[in-house]
Amino acid sequence: MLNDIQEILYDAEQIQLKVKEMAQQLSEDFDGRNPLVICVLKGAFIFMADLVKNINIPLETDFMAISSYGQSTKSSGVVKIVKDLDSPVEGRDVVIVEDIIDSGLTLSYLIDVLERRNAKSVTVATLFDKPGRRTVELEADYTGFSLPDAFVVGYGLDYAERYRNLPFIGILKPDVYAP
Ligand code: XMP
Ligand code: MG
Repeated sequence: MLNDIQEILYDAEQIQLKVKEMAQQLSEDFDGRNPLVICVLKGAFIFMADLVKNINIPLETDFMAISSYGQSTKSSGVVKIVKDLDSPVEGRDVVIVEDIIDSGLTLSYLIDVLERRNAKSVTVATLFDKPGRRTVELEADYTGFSLPDAFVVGYGLDYAERYRNLPFIGILKPDVYAP
């Protein structure tokens, strides 16, 4: 598995530090608001767990699955809800927890859905960002790390469902997906 990684961008320790910082900021900013924290499956599941463990105010969690790249490394542009939320969002302060923002298509679709459901506020926390690849203008409210334009895996991010369990984020060797 490690043989498939070209370069480690941020190791486990650097990620944990950053996640704690983000959690601290969210704790301060959402104090007294009982936010609904939404994990965008599957990529954000590890970030979500580490993040909420370090948020020290009352909150609720929910999970949503969005169609993604499947076995490819490029966005199809088609976004679909595969698993919807269990909780109503009307009148709630929602925090979307994303693994990575790439083109921005997934997130802009999601923000739109939550706004149409009359969320009181929609806030985005993403661990990783590839700002150079946007096709829609969009910025997260909380961003962990900006990444270069390369396909990355680890810490929840996959290629064909593999590598999610790596504790770091790294660039996948291109010959793994383009042999
Ligand atoms: P968009 O383009 O809609 O994409 O902003 C967001 C979703 O695409 C996935 N994604 C990646 N997954 N390595 C991955 O494993 C990457 O480098 C990568 N770039 C985008 C991810 O699921 C994200 O939620
Ligand atoms: Mg994926």
